[in-house]
Amino acid sequence: MDAKTPDPKSPDLNSGTLAVGDKSWSFPVLHGSIGPSVLDISKLYGQTGMFTYDPGFTSTAACESKITYIDGDEGVLLYRGYPIEQLAMNGDFLETCYLLLYGELPTPAQKTDFDYRVTRHTMVHEQMARFYQGFRRDAHPMAVMVGCVGALSAFYHDSIDISDPHQRMVASIRMIAKMPTIAAMAYKYTIGQPFIYPKNDLDYSSNFLRMCFAVPAEDYKVNPILAKAMDRIFILHADHEQNASTSTVRLAGSSGANPFACIAAGIACLWGPAHGGANEAALKMLGEIGHVSRIPEYIKRAKDKNDPFRLMGFGHRVYKNYDPRAKIMQQTCHEVLRELGIKHDPLLDVAMELERIALSDDYFIEKKLYPNIDFYSGITLKAMGFSTSMFTVLFALARTVGWIAQWKEMIEDPQQKIGRPRQIYSGAPRRDYVAIAKRR
Ligand code: CMC
Repeated sequence: MDAKTPDPKSPDLNSGTLAVGDKSWSFPVLHGSIGPSVLDISKLYGQTGMFTYDPGFTSTAACESKITYIDGDEGVLLYRGYPIEQLAMNGDFLETCYLLLYGELPTPAQKTDFDYRVTRHTMVHEQMARFYQGFRRDAHPMAVMVGCVGALSAFYHDSIDISDPHQRMVASIRMIAKMPTIAAMAYKYTIGQPFIYPKNDLDYSSNFLRMCFAVPAEDYKVNPILAKAMDRIFILHADHEQNASTSTVRLAGSSGANPFACIAAGIACLWGPAHGGANEAALKMLGEIGHVSRIPEYIKRAKDKNDPFRLMGFGHRVYKNYDPRAKIMQQTCHEVLRELGIKHDPLLDVAMELERIALSDDYFIEKKLYPNIDFYSGITLKAMGFSTSMFTVLFALARTVGWIAQWKEMIEDPQQKIGRPRQIYSGAPRRDYVAIAKRR
C-alpha cells in the first residue's frame, strides 16, 4: 500500500481533527504498510497560521520511505522487509547494498553483475592521494573522510547531474566502491604507512582488510573469519531509517546538492558522540572504567542528573528494547575474540558485567535503556586491529549505502521539496538601529 493513499478498510481513521480555541480543522491521516499512522499536517500553516513545534523531531515523519523499518518497542529492524538477523547471518554486504538500492534481493546473475560493477570502481583518482598529504599526520580519520569524500565531486564530474538516473546510479556505485579505499587511505595516512591499492579478486570486506593491514614489504593473507565478521558488521550498519546523519543527507540533497557533497554532510553528522561517534566513546569509557569493581561508581554517575556522564553504547531514540543489531554484534564479538585466541579481554569483562548490572537496575529499566550497536562494536574492532579513531570511519563506510539509497529515493520522489523547517522566534521584536556614538 502506498502511504499517500488513505486506508479504504478503515475510513473512520482517515482523518484527524485539531481544535484550538473555538476553531477546529480536519487533516488527513496516512497509513504506512506497517508502523504508526501519521497525521498529514503539510497544509496546517496555510489553514491555521500555526506551525508545529517538535525539537529533535521526536514525533515528526519527514518523508515517506520504502527502505528500512524499525519497531523500536519490539526491537525489530527490517531492510526492505527482510529481518536484519536473516540478512546478517545468511547474506553478504554487497547483496545488502543491492537490496537497499534496488528494493529486491538480487538473482545470482544480478549479484554477479553488481559485484563486478562495484569492483570496477574501487580505485580512486590518483590525484586523490595528494589530497591526503594536505592533512596533518595526527588528523582524525573522520576529518580526513569529510574532506576527501566531499572532494570526490571535484573528481567525478560525469556523475553529479542529479537529474540523470544513469548518473545517479553511477554515483551510487562509485560511493559504495570507493569508500573502503578512501577509508583505508585515511587509516594508512594517520599511521604513516604507504597506501595499498585495492585488489579486485578479493571480496568487498577482504579487500578492505587488506588495504588497511597489508604492507608492501610482506605478503598479507586475509583471515576469512575476520573478513566474514567485518562483512557482518557492515550489514548491521548499512541503514537505519531517518537517523540524524541520514536526515542530514536528505536535507543537504533536498537543495539539489550533488551526492558526494551530501554524503560528506552525512559523515560530518555521524561523527558526533551521540550518533556514530558512540562506538569510539564506548570503548574509551570501558577503558576508563578499567575493572568490574569500578562499575557501580559509573552506574551511579550515569544516574546522577547533575553529572553529564552517560553510559556510552546505551540507549536509543527509537529502540526501547534490546537493539537487534547489538545482539548480533555481541555474538560476532565473541567469534572474533575466539578466532584471535583472545581468551580474556578485560574490556569485554567490564562490558558484560556493565550490561548485566544496567539491565537489572531500576533507572535503566524504567527509561528502557538497553545496549545499542555501539556497545560491543568497539571491542570487536579493537581486537581486529583497528585504532579507536577508525571506528566511526567503519560506520561511515557501511552507512554510505543507506545514505545513498535514501538520497536516491528522495530525488526520485515526485513530492520532494527543499527541506525548510520553521521556528518559534523568541528574540527581540522589531526595534530601530541606534548610531554607535549614541549607544551606552
Ligand atoms: N546513560 C544514562 N542515561 C541515559 C542514557 C545513557 N546512555 N541515555 C539516555 N539516558 C536518560 C536521559 O538522561 C533521559 O533521562 P530523563 O528522562 O530523566 O531526562 C532519558 O534517558 C531519555 O534520554 P534522552 O537523551 O532524552 O533520549 P534521546 O532519545 O534524545 O537520546 C541517545 C538517545 C542515543 C542520544 C542517548 O540514549 C545517548 O546519549 N546514549 C549514549 C550515546 C550512544 O550510545 N549513542 C549511540 C546511538 S546508537 C548508534 C546510532 O544510531 O548512532
